[in-house]
Amino acid sequence: MSDATFTPRVFSGIQPSGGLTLGNYLGAMKRFVDMQDADRFECIYCLVDLHAITVWQDPAALTRNTRELCAGFIAAGIDPEKSILFNQSQVPEHAQLGWVFNCVARMGWMGRMTQWKDKAGKNAEAASLGLFAYPALMAADILAYHATHVPVGEDQKQHLELTRDIAAKFNHDYGVDFFPLTEPVIEGAATRVMNLQDGTKKMSKSDPSDRTRINMTDDADTIARKIRKAKTDPEPLPDSVAGLEDRPEARNLVNIWAGLADLGVEDVVAQNAGKMFGYFKQDLADLAVAKLAPISTEMSRLMQEPDEIDRILSRGSDRAREIAAPILRQTFDIMGVVRA
Ligand code: AMP
Ligand code: TRP
Repeated sequence: MSDATFTPRVFSGIQPSGGLTLGNYLGAMKRFVDMQDADRFECIYCLVDLHAITVWQDPAALTRNTRELCAGFIAAGIDPEKSILFNQSQVPEHAQLGWVFNCVARMGWMGRMTQWKDKAGKNAEAASLGLFAYPALMAADILAYHATHVPVGEDQKQHLELTRDIAAKFNHDYGVDFFPLTEPVIEGAATRVMNLQDGTKKMSKSDPSDRTRINMTDDADTIARKIRKAKTDPEPLPDSVAGLEDRPEARNLVNIWAGLADLGVEDVVAQNAGKMFGYFKQDLADLAVAKLAPISTEMSRLMQEPDEIDRILSRGSDRAREIAAPILRQTFDIMGVVRA
């Protein structure tokens, strides 16, 4: 890696493309709060609306989802004074550096991205050009701040490897040590929260069935009901983590418990060994309601004040721009772009 030293800086993003799920919360947002509170990093959190529009978004829904996501960040514990919280399209440097990286990244690299293959499906000809270029914009999000650490869920690992490849190719092509090779931070028991009805699929905001996920806007009764009805197998809980192998639904519920309670998977197994899932799910429902219901209540309260939310995003965008603008300027200088 490079000899240059970079300020310890965290960047991460979530798309305002639908409601927030428990997967987003445990895999991303809760960990964003931990990193903010650790006081070791400057933290920048972005609502990546330019990524959301790589697939069609209804305009009214995009507005609502953006405000709701902002409310979710704050309700989960992000302090918009301490961290920088903003939406991507208000900071034009993202799109500008994204274009530069479209010219650095290779078609072959992009074509190998599993998220592209999954989202484009069989009809790649009909997918937007933006969906194909999505990971180059993501690299721009991160590198416009020289971010050193990026907390994400497991599904983003490949995109972060590509971000390093883009940084390394730029540095190599221009003979500089300018962009850092960012570290992915994929930690904890719940970096891949699975679908409540099918433990082999990821919990997703885009699944057509609402029973498969917990939304951060669900009320206490809905959260409890979805957990009680989650698919499990007929065996009781094992007495060791190894006993969860080949039991994806059981493993997922144990992971969710560990994520919500800040425990290791071994501790959850030790506490619940031999318990039948009917009882385990009741206790998990109580835990989930205790942790999540206050967040959903606070989100609804904040959603009553859209002007305040917009003000927070606008102020966050100004702060973000102060960091990103000089980095973009230096990038153009390195490339020999003439400007007055
Ligand atoms: P997205 O909603 O796709 O913008 O994802 C935002 C963040 O949430 C990323 O860091 C994802 O890796 C994370 N994430 C999304 N779904 C899950 C899941 N089911 N389990 C864990 N992390 C997730
Ligand atoms: N691609 C990420 C996702 O869907 C969202 C994202 C966009 C992101 N830019 C980012 C995450 C930069 C981390 C850093 O989950």
